[in-house]
Amino acid sequence: MNKPFHQWAKQLQELILEEDRKIFSPQVIDNYLQPQNLKEIPDPAGKATITGPCGDTMYVGLKLDRDKIAEIGFLTDGCGPTVACGSMLSQMVSGRTLIEAVAIGQEELLKVLGGLPESHMHCAKLAVDTLHQALKDCEKTGGESNAKR
Ligand code: FES
Repeated sequence: MNKPFHQWAKQLQELILEEDRKIFSPQVIDNYLQPQNLKEIPDPAGKATITGPCGDTMYVGLKLDRDKIAEIGFLTDGCGPTVACGSMLSQMVSGRTLIEAVAIGQEELLKVLGGLPESHMHCAKLAVDTLHQALKDCEKTGGESNAKR
């Protein structure tokens, strides 16, 4: 007798996850399965949207409390590793000053994520570039939210 569809789908998901575990670190898997800060920020003090060379796009929005990042959100239509990069990076910069956040680069993100295969290095660059652009946007706005501009 045929398995119900949901059982078949669950088995397929487990097989895919098993394959992903051979390629990606546990940190990458955890962050793409349960991403943190995957949200749009209403009236951000700074925001950016960048499309990477692969055609995938990332958005980062920031709210500030003086010179610190009070809230960060990201969205992406990219691959699982890109979701993991956005999630990990958002956790790394939450509560940090703008200067501390801008000092975080691709290398540091990759280190905290336990690395990525060569073919997905650009996913980390997309996340970091988008964050840096959103931080630059904060400079332009003087840290004021869009609602106050
Ligand atoms: Fe396009 Fe990851 S960002 S493949």
